[in-house]
Amino acid sequence: MTTYTLSKGAAEKTKADVVAIGVVRTAKGLQAAPGGRGVADAYGRKFAPLLSTLGFTGKRGEVAKLPTGGTIKSPMLVLVGLGAEDDVDAAGLRRAAGIAIRTVSNAATLALALPARDAAEVRAVAEGAMLGAYAFTTYKTSSRSTPPGDVVVLTGTARSKAAKTALETAQAVASATALARDWVNTPAADLTPGRFADAVLAEHKSRKPGKVTISVLDEKELGSRGFGGVLGVGQASANPPRLVRLEYRPRGATAHLALVGKGITFDSGGLALKAGPKMRTMKCDMAGAAAVVAATFAIAELGLPVRVTTVAPMAENMVSGKATRPGDVLTMYDGQTVEVLNPDAEGRLVLADGIALAREAKPDLVVDVATLTGASETALGDRVGAVLGNDDDLLAQTIAAASRAGEVLWQLPIAEEMPEKVRTYSKVADLMQHNVDFYGGALYAAAFLQQFVGDHRWAHLDIAGPAFNGRGPYGHVPSGGTGFAVPTLVELASELADGKA
Ligand code: BES
Ligand code: ZN
Ligand code: ZN
Repeated sequence: MTTYTLSKGAAEKTKADVVAIGVVRTAKGLQAAPGGRGVADAYGRKFAPLLSTLGFTGKRGEVAKLPTGGTIKSPMLVLVGLGAEDDVDAAGLRRAAGIAIRTVSNAATLALALPARDAAEVRAVAEGAMLGAYAFTTYKTSSRSTPPGDVVVLTGTARSKAAKTALETAQAVASATALARDWVNTPAADLTPGRFADAVLAEHKSRKPGKVTISVLDEKELGSRGFGGVLGVGQASANPPRLVRLEYRPRGATAHLALVGKGITFDSGGLALKAGPKMRTMKCDMAGAAAVVAATFAIAELGLPVRVTTVAPMAENMVSGKATRPGDVLTMYDGQTVEVLNPDAEGRLVLADGIALAREAKPDLVVDVATLTGASETALGDRVGAVLGNDDDLLAQTIAAASRAGEVLWQLPIAEEMPEKVRTYSKVADLMQHNVDFYGGALYAAAFLQQFVGDHRWAHLDIAGPAFNGRGPYGHVPSGGTGFAVPTLVELASELADGKA
C-alpha cells in the first residue's frame, strides 16, 4: 500500500529517493514547470545543456531519469515533458504524474514536484500517480517492481482544506478505478456471474456499513420475475446469470441518478461464435458493470448528496445445446418482445432488462455504460468512448464531466432512421435485436436501448474501445482493464450534487 501526502516542501530540498518535475516549452526554450523551478535553479546554467544532452524536447509524455550527484538533496530526478507552457492542464498533469510514477522502480519515497497550484491540479497529480502505479499481480508468483511506499505531492496549497479534499477525491476515484480494473483483469473462469456478484457483495461488506444497500437476484428470481434478456443471453452457460442492484440514498439528495452496466463476464459470441483474435480479450465485456458498481462505491465514499440506483446484469455468453438461436424471440423484463438476430449482440439484451428495472426507481436520469459495439471502436479507436442519448444538455454535461475527469467522450448521433429500423425490421416480434445493415452498429444498438428508456433523460456510454488496453501502458493508463468511465461517473455525480446537471 502506498501512502499519499501533501507537503509545502521545496523540490530541491526534499530527501525523497526520487523527485519528479515537469519541463515545459516556452518562448525562451525549455524550462522547469512551476513546482520544479527550484531544481532548475540548483542546476543553474547547467540545466539547459543537461536537457539538451538528454535530447529532451519537452513534448507531452517524454520522460528521462537521471542521478543528481548531489546537485539537489534527492539522489534521483525524473523529468516529464508537459508540452507548451500555456497548454498545461489537469488532464496533462494526470498523465504526467502517471508517467513519472511508472518510471520509478523500487524507490521507497517519491516526491512529485509537478505544477500543483490549485485543488484541481493537486487532484490531477495525485490521481495520475495513483492510477499510474496500478499493477495487477494476483496471478504473478513473483512481482518485479514495487511501487513507492510514500508519495508526497509538493504544493504550496498543502495546508488548505481544498487541497485536502482534492487528495481525498483522488483517493476515492483512483481506488474505485483500480477496483474496476481488477475485476476486468480477472480471468473469466474466476469471474463468472456468480463470482462477480460475490465479489461485489464482498466489496460492499468491506466498506462503511449503511451507506449503500445491495441485493442480488439469482437465476431463479430472474426467471420468476421475467428477465428474458438476461436469461436468454446466459442460458447456454454452465455459470448462471445474476443481477446486482445497489442503492445509495443519502439524506438531502439533490438528484437521483440511475446507473446501468453491461456485465457479460465472457463474450464468446454465443452461436455467432467469435473468431480467435476477437474473442481473446472478451473477459473485458463486464467493464461497464465494473465501472458503474465501482463508481457507486466512490460516490458513497465521498458522501455526494445524490441518490444513486445501480443495476448490473451479469451473464456469460456461451455456446451449448441450450443457447439462444437466431430467430428466437425473448420477452423482456418490461414486456416488449425481441427477435434475436445475432447472439453476439448480447449486451443490449441484458442492458434492456437492466434499464427497465432501474426505471422502476423513478430516477431523474439514466446513464448506462457498456462495451457494446466493435463499431464504436472502429469509429473512435481505443482511447475515446462514444456517448449517445436523448437529451442534448445531458450529453454535453457528460462530455464536459469526462473532460474534467481526464477522459475523452465523443458524441455519436442516434440517426432518425435507426429507431424506425429497430421497430419495423422484425416480422414476428416488437423489436429487432440487431441491425440488418452492415454499418452504423453503434447507432443501432443505442436506438435499441432507447426503446427501453421511455422518456427518461438518458446517456449511453459505449466503451468497447477504451475499456481495455491491449497494448502497452500510456500516461496513467495500464495495459489490460483501464477502469474507463469510473472517473467520469463520479464527476457527473458531483456536478449533480452541485445542482448543475
Ligand atoms: N462485446 C462485444 C463488443 C466489443 C467489441 C467489446 C470489441 C469490446 C471490444 C459485443 O457484444 C459484440 O460482440 N458486438 C458485435 C455486434 C455485432 C455482432 C452485431 C460487434 O460489434 O462486432
Ligand atoms: Zn457480443
Ligand atoms: Zn459483448
